[in-house]
Amino acid sequence: MRLINIALVVVLTVHSTFSVDKNNFKTCEQSGFCKRLRNLKPEKSQYSLNLDSVFVHGNVLSAEVITVNHDTENKNVLWHYALKLSALVDGTFRVEIDEAEPLYPRYRTQLSLDGEPKPDSLKLVSKENGQITVSNSQGYKVVIRAEPLKFTFLDKNGEEAVVLNDNAQLFVEPLRVKNSGDEENAVESDEGAWSESFKSHHDSKPRGNEAVSLDVAFPDADQVYGIPEHTDKLNLATTTSGEPYRLYNLDVFEFELDSRMAIYGAIPVLYAHGSKRTVGVFWHNSAETWVDIVNYGDETVVGSLVNLVTGGQKRRVDARLMSESGIVDVFVMMGDRPSDVFRQYTKLTGVAPLPPRFSLAYHQSRWNYVDEADVRAVDEGFDEHDVPADVLWLDIEYTDGKKYFTWDPIKFPHPAEMVANLTAKGRKMVVIIDPHIKREAGYFLHEDATEMGLYVKNKDGKDYDGWCWPGSSSYLDFFNPAVIKYYTERYKFQNFPGTSKDVHIWNDMNEPSVFNGPEITMPKDCRHYKSPQDGEEGIASFWEHRHVHNEYGLSYIKGTHEGMMARTDAHYRPFILSRAVFAGTQRFAAVWTGDNMAEWGFLAASVPMCLSLATAGVSFCGSDVGGFFKYPDAELMTRWYQAGAFQAFFRAHSHIETKRREPWLYDATTLARIRDAVRRRYALLDFWYTLFYEHSIDGLPVTRPLFQQYPQEQQTYTIDNTYLLGDKLLVSPVVEAGVSSVKVYLPGRERRELWYDVDTFQQHSANGHIHQDVNIGKIPVYQRGGTIIPRKERVRRSSTLMTNDPYTLLAALDVNGTAEGTLYIDDGETFDYKSNKYIYAKITFSPDAMTYKLQNNAHYPTRTWVERIVVAGIKTAPKSAQLIQGESRSALHMTIHRGNDVLVVRKPGAKMAADWEIRFTY
Ligand code: GLC
Repeated sequence: MRLINIALVVVLTVHSTFSVDKNNFKTCEQSGFCKRLRNLKPEKSQYSLNLDSVFVHGNVLSAEVITVNHDTENKNVLWHYALKLSALVDGTFRVEIDEAEPLYPRYRTQLSLDGEPKPDSLKLVSKENGQITVSNSQGYKVVIRAEPLKFTFLDKNGEEAVVLNDNAQLFVEPLRVKNSGDEENAVESDEGAWSESFKSHHDSKPRGNEAVSLDVAFPDADQVYGIPEHTDKLNLATTTSGEPYRLYNLDVFEFELDSRMAIYGAIPVLYAHGSKRTVGVFWHNSAETWVDIVNYGDETVVGSLVNLVTGGQKRRVDARLMSESGIVDVFVMMGDRPSDVFRQYTKLTGVAPLPPRFSLAYHQSRWNYVDEADVRAVDEGFDEHDVPADVLWLDIEYTDGKKYFTWDPIKFPHPAEMVANLTAKGRKMVVIIDPHIKREAGYFLHEDATEMGLYVKNKDGKDYDGWCWPGSSSYLDFFNPAVIKYYTERYKFQNFPGTSKDVHIWNDMNEPSVFNGPEITMPKDCRHYKSPQDGEEGIASFWEHRHVHNEYGLSYIKGTHEGMMARTDAHYRPFILSRAVFAGTQRFAAVWTGDNMAEWGFLAASVPMCLSLATAGVSFCGSDVGGFFKYPDAELMTRWYQAGAFQAFFRAHSHIETKRREPWLYDATTLARIRDAVRRRYALLDFWYTLFYEHSIDGLPVTRPLFQQYPQEQQTYTIDNTYLLGDKLLVSPVVEAGVSSVKVYLPGRERRELWYDVDTFQQHSANGHIHQDVNIGKIPVYQRGGTIIPRKERVRRSSTLMTNDPYTLLAALDVNGTAEGTLYIDDGETFDYKSNKYIYAKITFSPDAMTYKLQNNAHYPTRTWVERIVVAGIKTAPKSAQLIQGESRSALHMTIHRGNDVLVVRKPGAKMAADWEIRFTY
């Protein structure tokens, strides 16, 4: 109990200020390698290619790279490096630069790639005039200039698309032997080479300096995007007059807005976009990383610099990536449209698998629902007040003294009954499991881990002991296969009594968060498992936390995922929520944006934050609805529910010290509006589910920035308060207090796009900004003309209870009077869809007919049917309609609404399990 109190006091005291304590986190100046590398601005790169060593075989060019000391007369070679350039399928190249003979292996990021990338062919085109040119099967070329070393990636028109080391910022700091005199003899440039301090924390840096850096130029780019997770805009800012963007998974208490500081997630992928092309760069590195950006089109970049670098050309963006360790390992994705690069990135790091359907519905959470009676009351509250809900969440207090995989025996004595009570209504439960393990004698997990050597070690090789929710804690080392094996077993139902297939998992604090660690995380000189290899001993026998930091959270959820798969013999789809994010996280978990505040700015920020994550593979994203800290007033709460209803992960959550705020605790009108927002989500659940199915096939974001669909339309490049669901709905949530009108940008003028207000069917021609009236009930959402969207309009308590409910199909017509859409249906929870037990239907509308056709030779015996078809934007109303399904023919009843432009086909009764057609006559 004392420990809990201490933790609460810490939380509460820092609370009162409500702003981030920047002193806890490093600036670039305070981060040894960032300061060192950022200050290095050589006129000419020391790196050059040994042309005689070039060898092209299969899809790989290998060669020796050397650094040369140009200052000495005989230009002596300083160091030898191994270069590997590989051509990969789908317009992607990979460049790896490692020391030719490092003292011991340098760390290579292990977990983010979804298997070995598939090779393309690579052909030697020419080798002359001090440079070598190769091309892949699609006609993209790479020109490697030998001295100074430079890589130019040419698009299919032979134009420069991506250039590496144009600004001479390629560095791979060679590993060195520490001789005992090093510290005393350290010259100024060597300051901190063998140890660094931050506040009271000392980093022993046993391998010394081992940083890597590379500059990447994007000619013709207007904007660059990516490198989530940050709280500023979707399009990245020039960093010359401030801090670089930082990528280092951190638990930043009361993180601030409009900031380039690191927070929970770190995905090192950059996309550069302009009207000519879109390209991307994935920096495959899991160490602390800083990224500088110079956009020559920005007003802030001085003219002389523009002239010097670009010859006066204002369209170009330069980036520089700096990591504390690892090798240079960079994937260059040639695009050439936004959708192409987003797909190329998910080809490398994987897609989100089809989630269980309930997880796309509404989640109710709080730190904490205090006991079983509380859970029951909240569950019943949703029924009483007619608000649908699918999931109730339990935060850390459900455990027996913060010991995970246990239940508090007083407050949660009957977990199985509690869960059964929920599942009877089609509801589920999610419980939290964090990576810190309480160091308490008698706690089986702690005793097993100690005995079996499963913990991360400190710099002296002893079990690392840090401070987190339970007080003194140790951390399982998920890089160790023995840990995965042990941990996986913990999820077996018999090992975690009270759980069932309907209990899913929330993995929090996995940056990892360590309250008394440097920057609230694990010391960099902690030791992780390294698979034993011949002759490697001493410091070569382990990895340091510095190497793996940004993938620790991923290693953890990967373990959880394995455990949850194993507990049902891979029959049911697991749902996991993670706070830490790295490249590849999407393969295992959904994410949320962490501890936000009940303030309008945080509601607004949730949109670009999740959008940026979506472009980096993580579409399944949301923010704590209502805000974690503080209390949202009725208006903010309403707007947050309305926004959340249109974000992928839709969960209300709040801090333990805040006032309770289940929807019915607000006044009746607010409750009604919240109910309306949640019901809108349920009506569109099958649309969301279809989008996630399509993402699992094509790897494209579910929530999309406007520039993805309208890459030629310059106004879209900086819009990040409005986004698209697939290519069909445009959402522009109201994120300001007291407004009665908002400006919404409707893209697609060139394509003569039409947009239909989903509430009124009012048609807008795409013409840039419109002023949309917004009373407190209004959510600005528009359906693109040319699309068909499935809805389910019967109100139920949970999504499971809607399984057999009929559909309304909403067709919004384009200028040609046509529309198309898709619908995915399966059992919502198992992997049977992998053996073709699903329905994926293409639905099309033309003035003559509406057709519904199953694809992929897949079938599922759904009992659902069509209860209504609404066609908006109709020019001439048909006289009659006939449904044809199998042998049966039936005449259908129609009515015309609004200004004679909305047609409603009533009770067509068509069944979703097989093809059908409705023929119209005029
Ligand atoms: C962290 C999480 C928050 C959770 C709390 C207690 O602050 O971000 O969502 O409620 O820990 O587990």
